[in-house]
Amino acid sequence: MKRREFLRTVAAGVGGLSVLDARGQSAAPAKKPLRVALIGCGGQGVGTLLPQACNERVVALADPDPRCIEAALAKIRKVAPSADTAAIKTFSDYRKLFDVMGRELDAAVIATPNHQHAPPALMAIRRGIHVYVEKPLTHTIHEARLLRDEAKRCGVVTQMGQHGHSNEGCRRLCEYIWAGAIGQVRENGSVGNWGCHLIDPSYWALKLKSPEAVEVEDMHGGIGGVWPIRTRIRWDFPAREGMDPVKVYFYDGLAADQQYSEQTVLKRWRNVAKREWQNLPPLVLELEKKYKRDFGRAGSLLVGDKGIMTIGEFGDGCRIVPEEAHRAFPMPDKLLPRIKGSHQSDFFRACRGGVPACANFDYSAPLAEIALLGDIAMLAGLKRRVEWDGAAMRCTNRPELNRFLKPSCRDGWKM
Ligand SMILES: NC(=O)c1ccc[n+]([C@@H]2O[C@H](COP(=O)([O-])OP(=O)(O)OC[C@H]3O[C@@H](n4cnc5c(N)ncnc54)[C@H](O)[C@@H]3O)[C@@H](O)[C@H]2O)c1
Repeated sequence: MKRREFLRTVAAGVGGLSVLDARGQSAAPAKKPLRVALIGCGGQGVGTLLPQACNERVVALADPDPRCIEAALAKIRKVAPSADTAAIKTFSDYRKLFDVMGRELDAAVIATPNHQHAPPALMAIRRGIHVYVEKPLTHTIHEARLLRDEAKRCGVVTQMGQHGHSNEGCRRLCEYIWAGAIGQVRENGSVGNWGCHLIDPSYWALKLKSPEAVEVEDMHGGIGGVWPIRTRIRWDFPAREGMDPVKVYFYDGLAADQQYSEQTVLKRWRNVAKREWQNLPPLVLELEKKYKRDFGRAGSLLVGDKGIMTIGEFGDGCRIVPEEAHRAFPMPDKLLPRIKGSHQSDFFRACRGGVPACANFDYSAPLAEIALLGDIAMLAGLKRRVEWDGAAMRCTNRPELNRFLKPSCRDGWKM
């Protein structure tokens, strides 16, 4: 790694762990495969993470459902026919996995349900095992901070799974915004169902840190652990590093007059609204009509005092609107290092040393926190502004919400 490249990475806020700190227990030389455990062998674990982990050596699988373990083994046979699957150890409880194999692992990739991200991640981190954790990093804000701090203390490599962060588009967005392509951005709106994916490009380009307040402006349904069918959430961010205060909006679910039904949601992801029934910002509809554009089902719109930029759901296709304005603006210099290969391979690359993985926890924990604060605002209720003191990790005007910042764990699961 070139020293200048490293300094640039850190200056851009994508670094965090210093190269010298990135030790972990792995002393894997560049060519030796890393010994990897997959924890959570469901859709994302087996479908996306496992094929990438097969570029290294999968040595253990953990999932309480034996059918998921079987599916994972079948997938390994398919994508890595030469792998010795008989040698892969399987566990129904990841605590046992760490007890038995804690010293034989270089990395753990975690794709359990959200409330089960932090406990196995922490067990790995404290044993010096590098961790890739699916988004959103954790279920509570306390856990996100704990993982970030412990990873730093233990010197392990980390990566959160908002895979669009490895794409070209979000780097381009940063470079355009930092070059002043649309001036000061005071409003940003994201549309879709995946907070960490969607907010990430703006979080990076606008250098967002902790918001000072968050409020649900519109919400339909959503009580007793059931998600609302429509929300509009607003975060208020103060001025930062030469940037004006900005309001970030998140539009989710179905438009105001629509009901949840087979017709209004996608067949594949039934929690995702079809485009024609989506809850969209009026500005999106206005711009689409005016410029005959289709901004797609998910993405973000950044509204500056000199123009507007769009970006797709996974940080792809950043453009100034209209196209003539995009073509007229000189292409900014490439300030940020690019990722070669996939988001997961960037993690495995970092496990061997060099610059930190691009979505390491120093970068991603505060992003996950923004998304989780949206949940806190939903718990507060409609039009109930929540004032947030990020440094103290406290809701200041509604102290009753602070109990949601930290999980209550049963015996045997305490962190
Ligand atoms: N980055 C992305 O684009 C993306 C896409 C889909 C899902 N995800 C994330 O991946 C995670 C998993 O989602 P999914 O769609 O694969 O869900 P899923 O339900 O298909 O899979 C979850 C798996 O975890 C297992 N599991 C549950 N409790 C466990 C425990 N205590 N220990 C070990 N395994 C356990 C389940 O048996 C199941 O096999 C979620 O956090 C989700 O947000 C990310």
